[in-house]
Amino acid sequence: MTKRVAILISGSGSNMVSLVEAMKSPDFGAKPVLVLANKAEAAGLEKAKALGVPTAVVDHRPYKGDRAAFDTELHEVLSSYKPDIVCLAGFMRIFTPELIEKWAGKMLNIHPALLPKYKGLNTHQRALDAGDAMGGCSVHIVTPELDAGPVVKQVEVPILPNDTADTLTARVIKEEHKLYPAALKEFAKA
Ligand code: GRF
Repeated sequence: MTKRVAILISGSGSNMVSLVEAMKSPDFGAKPVLVLANKAEAAGLEKAKALGVPTAVVDHRPYKGDRAAFDTELHEVLSSYKPDIVCLAGFMRIFTPELIEKWAGKMLNIHPALLPKYKGLNTHQRALDAGDAMGGCSVHIVTPELDAGPVVKQVEVPILPNDTADTLTARVIKEEHKLYPAALKEFAKA
């Protein structure tokens, strides 16, 4: 059965594009049914439209910090597209445990660090500050604790002597664009 995939974004959506492009392959086993953003300005929305993927916006701002109310609306919109898998791809909102429970075992995220190291933000700068030899990225199953769910797939990326957070970001994101489609393909077949 071809799995139905929703992708949630907040920004440029470069990982979303890599997922959608990869799913064009007939043997992928999954297809994109929705790209949803939490703000209408998310640049990735236009890219999704250009790729022919339906889009939706659930703006978090009118909820003024009421996470439960935002999650209720998001769940309703998401459910109406009947996704089998939800991929977070640079989605910058933290869900309530109740929302995550509703999608338990069906929601993936990509994180720009070698989890369990550097959960949260500023991962590359933290790896540089620690003097790590390797950075990287991880795809994991989303559980209520932030960036703490089981890792599905991970890749190491070398940190070079003159790296800044920007140069490391640029090197890692190229690998994210390969890792996430590979992880989704395996996950969709499982
Ligand atoms: C990526 O670095 C991803 O790992 C992180 O947010 C960023 C999203 O970038 N979760 P993009 O919107 O996919 O370009």
